[in-house]
Amino acid sequence: MLNRSITKVSPSHLREPVIPSDRSETQPYGTVQRTPLALDSDIAAASVDNLNQLLADTLTLGSLYKKHHWQVSGPNFYSLHLLFDKHYAEQESLADLLAERVQTLGGISVAMAHDVAELASIPRSPKGREDPENQIKRLLQAHEVILLEARAMAREAAELGDLGTNDIIVSDLIRLNEAQVWFVVEHIQ
Ligand SMILES: [Fe+2]
Repeated sequence: MLNRSITKVSPSHLREPVIPSDRSETQPYGTVQRTPLALDSDIAAASVDNLNQLLADTLTLGSLYKKHHWQVSGPNFYSLHLLFDKHYAEQESLADLLAERVQTLGGISVAMAHDVAELASIPRSPKGREDPENQIKRLLQAHEVILLEARAMAREAAELGDLGTNDIIVSDLIRLNEAQVWFVVEHIQ
């Protein structure tokens, strides 16, 4: 018989629990600190809002790729399994870039899964497994949601003079999403 004693929670360990304060926030979500970027704070705030939207959708698309990496089936199992994981990793790197741009602008990046789910525009996917064709359609739909909002946000950032944000949205997000769409859509054409 297995000895599971080391996995049991002893009450003695809970005598002095660590309880984080519920008044510990040093900067609430949705606020923007003034930073010496030669950028008006209203402009920084507008970019932070847009970047958080893109971040929530990028994290959601990343999760969708990981879900499909795990749940894929069929004759192309191996190549799709690898492709989906590659795209997941690229979306995760992009998410880091977006989150750090938010912080650079003096904002607070959305981070936790429950907050991401509230903010994301990508339609919710089922918990269960789908066939590869529908997995691909679902991924393409998510990419298109992101590309549509990203193009509008890139234009807005350029018009407002936030060229750094415009550059990330165009050079990193739009380019990556377009390239990933190519690799995915070729499976159904
Ligand atoms: Fe894996």
